[in-house]
Amino acid sequence: MQPLLLLLAFLLAPKAQAAEIFLAVKIIGGHEVKPHSRPYMAFLRIRISDRKRCGGFLVREDFVLTAAHCWGRSITVILGAHNISKHERTQEVIPMKTAISHPNYHPKVNDIVLLQTPVLYLQLQRKAMLTAAMSLLRLPKRGEQVKPGMVCRVAGGGRLDLSTSTDTLHEVELEIQQDEQCISCYRRGYNGTTEICVGDPEMNQSTFKGDSGGPLMCVHMAQGIVSFGNKYGKTPHIEMKISSFLPWIERTMRRFQLQRPD
Ligand SMILES: *[C@@H]1O[C@H](CO)[C@@H](O)[C@H](O)[C@H]1NC(C)=O
Ligand SMILES: *[C@@H]1O[C@H](CO)[C@@H](O)[C@H](O)[C@H]1NC(C)=O
Ligand SMILES: *[C@@H]1O[C@H](CO)[C@@H](O)[C@H](O)[C@H]1NC(C)=O
Repeated sequence: MQPLLLLLAFLLAPKAQAAEIFLAVKIIGGHEVKPHSRPYMAFLRIRISDRKRCGGFLVREDFVLTAAHCWGRSITVILGAHNISKHERTQEVIPMKTAISHPNYHPKVNDIVLLQTPVLYLQLQRKAMLTAAMSLLRLPKRGEQVKPGMVCRVAGGGRLDLSTSTDTLHEVELEIQQDEQCISCYRRGYNGTTEICVGDPEMNQSTFKGDSGGPLMCVHMAQGIVSFGNKYGKTPHIEMKISSFLPWIERTMRRFQLQRPD
């Protein structure tokens, strides 16, 4: 399928329902990160019926990876931000060109999309900023998988608990759970092939509304994409397992040759 057709299919995809919610960039029980210490993080401002926010991350100079349900009528990608409410010198606002969602995306299934921003590379080259406030986050290689018990980090901006929100980037450490944990917590089938069960249910640490699309970082690698969880912000929550989508990610990015300036 051509990108335009994919985009249309994407726009026509049914809306999500149910008590489980998509996690939109909010961190519970975490801490603020040192400004610009996570230079691959993108804030996404999305226009749908109302405005919402998501996280995302830079995986190539012209591609941001995020959750497919973050899609709205328009998405603005903001890189190099620490406090999203401030006009920081490091911030770069990039209008998105194309969204290529997973061909088998349905709400809460294959919840992954590549946002193409073809002007980004040229812009960043001119400003020579890619090494400072912005950089790429490494994807795993085939076979590099997370295992239960591993402790990874999720970054996002947004809610700190049910009533407090923030405009700066926060991060929380969460432990990878056994698949059984999510199978018992979520009535909807949890699929351990394509999803990761994240966050110890005994701990008061989680992601929440607003964290969607952000990366699960395990040893400096993006292993997951925050997708959905319990509406009260209780762990575990569910992330898309990047290692299972590598063939699609590689194939999709290969279709669009990186336009390097002469
Ligand atoms: C972020 O910036 C806004 C606007 O300058 C400011 O009001 C707010 O206090 C800042 N937030 C934090 C957590 O520093
Ligand atoms: C889990 O996902 C894989 C890959 O998409 C699929 O082949 C399999 O049928 C799914 N399992 C269930 C139980 O839905
Ligand atoms: C989690 O929060 C609840 C309510 O605030 C508290 O009673 C409990 O002790 C906390 N648990 C941990 C492990 O911090």
